[in-house]
Amino acid sequence: MNRREFLQTGTACGLLLLKPRTAFSYQANSAVRLGLLGCGNRGTTVATSFSNSTTAQVVALADIFPDKLALGRTHFDQLNASLGRQPIDSKLLFHGPHAFEQLVASKDIDLIQISTPPFFHVQHLEAAVASGKHVYCEKPVGVDVKQAKQALEIAKRVKSTQSVDVGFQCRSAPPIAAIAQKIQSGALGKIGSVSGSYYAPASQEKTHPGASPDEYRLRNWLWYRALSGDILVEQNIHIIDLCNWLLGAHPLKATATGGRNILTHAGDCWDNYQVDFTYPAGVHLSFASTQFGDPGFNAGLTLFGATGSATVPYSGPVQIVGAQPWAWQDSMNTGPGPVKFAANGSFSDNLEFADRDKERTFIDSITTGQSHNQIAAGVETALSCMLGRMAGYEGHEVTWEKLLAHGETYELGMNLDQFA
Ligand SMILES: NC(=O)c1ccc[n+]([C@@H]2O[C@H](COP(=O)([O-])OP(=O)(O)OC[C@H]3O[C@@H](n4cnc5c(N)ncnc54)[C@H](O)[C@@H]3O)[C@@H](O)[C@H]2O)c1
Repeated sequence: MNRREFLQTGTACGLLLLKPRTAFSYQANSAVRLGLLGCGNRGTTVATSFSNSTTAQVVALADIFPDKLALGRTHFDQLNASLGRQPIDSKLLFHGPHAFEQLVASKDIDLIQISTPPFFHVQHLEAAVASGKHVYCEKPVGVDVKQAKQALEIAKRVKSTQSVDVGFQCRSAPPIAAIAQKIQSGALGKIGSVSGSYYAPASQEKTHPGASPDEYRLRNWLWYRALSGDILVEQNIHIIDLCNWLLGAHPLKATATGGRNILTHAGDCWDNYQVDFTYPAGVHLSFASTQFGDPGFNAGLTLFGATGSATVPYSGPVQIVGAQPWAWQDSMNTGPGPVKFAANGSFSDNLEFADRDKERTFIDSITTGQSHNQIAAGVETALSCMLGRMAGYEGHEVTWEKLLAHGETYELGMNLDQFA
């Protein structure tokens, strides 16, 4: 199957068949006014993609740090100009620790995009949902069990007129959406086991002149468990999410090993994990990850079934071998090495159109009034990763029930008012 054939099925994520109902206050194709919270690497990438691929228009920006806000303003003023749109009104530029409250209070915004570090997602989600606006929230939905439970309560307060997305764009990548249809309709027979990996290079230090220790920590949030959730929850989560989706379940228990064997820079995140997740019916996901050095980049899943097996990588052949052979024929990485890692989540090859198609589906859900709410699904995946993390940290098996009863809570350990 290639992209054109898949799109003709009408079920690709970006092309869901939508009823021609027009939502309250939106005309189809009218601009959805987007306010970006967190003008960093991923936030800028996603808001740029919204601007280029949908009718959404970036009209407001917020960030705790003025320098990040200024960079965002320059970028989006240039982008808006190139698209024949107005520059951002200076009344809609907010910085400081309360910038998120000012952003969500604005009457001139329809959609809040939350692209702050993971520790803040649930707090920011709560404020954005309470404002009645639509929300696009980056993964993970919470860094600890307490935040995950709080997010489930927030999910209940989402109005039927609000659409809330969580940033699992891999599900929307056309090759992955296509093979998922095959797997979910039984092309592998009974699935017996799964293996998965996420091998990525080390993340880079972010320096800023005169930064205090707290500011350094906030800018290098990726290195700290409390701020990021550790590599399993922050980064590897994309692969665990695909596994949950393809198996239609979350893991029931996990055992894990790992540690910090190579990294010597500041922070307390592990640099490698080996996790055995047990899903219903005794299906095991054997998962391994690293985040150090530059080993090349390799992320994906292989599912083994009674009548076939499927490979679902970020890069390389997306295919099924066995009784019902199938292959995605577009944009496979046929070069000599793996694709480059993209810290902004904007990968080439199989994920090339993941952001575009996810954002189109989301904006369609807003403009047609067919709202959806992905918070609970996002929490389920975040908790699945926390299960593996807890098993690793505690050095023994952890069940889903024990995880939920654990009361795990991470502390920020700094007063954000110092950045006012
Ligand atoms: N879906 C994906 O593939 C993908 C890829 C990369 C990152 N991400 C996620 O996107 C989020 C942002 O990651 P990034 O790489 O852009 O990080 P980043 O550090 O480049 O950007 C984060 C921004 O948030 C700002 N910020 C920090 N705390 C804030 C607060 N309390 N209030 C307001 N602004 C605050 C920072 O100043 C910075 O500009 C993370 O949750 C990360 O897990 C997702």
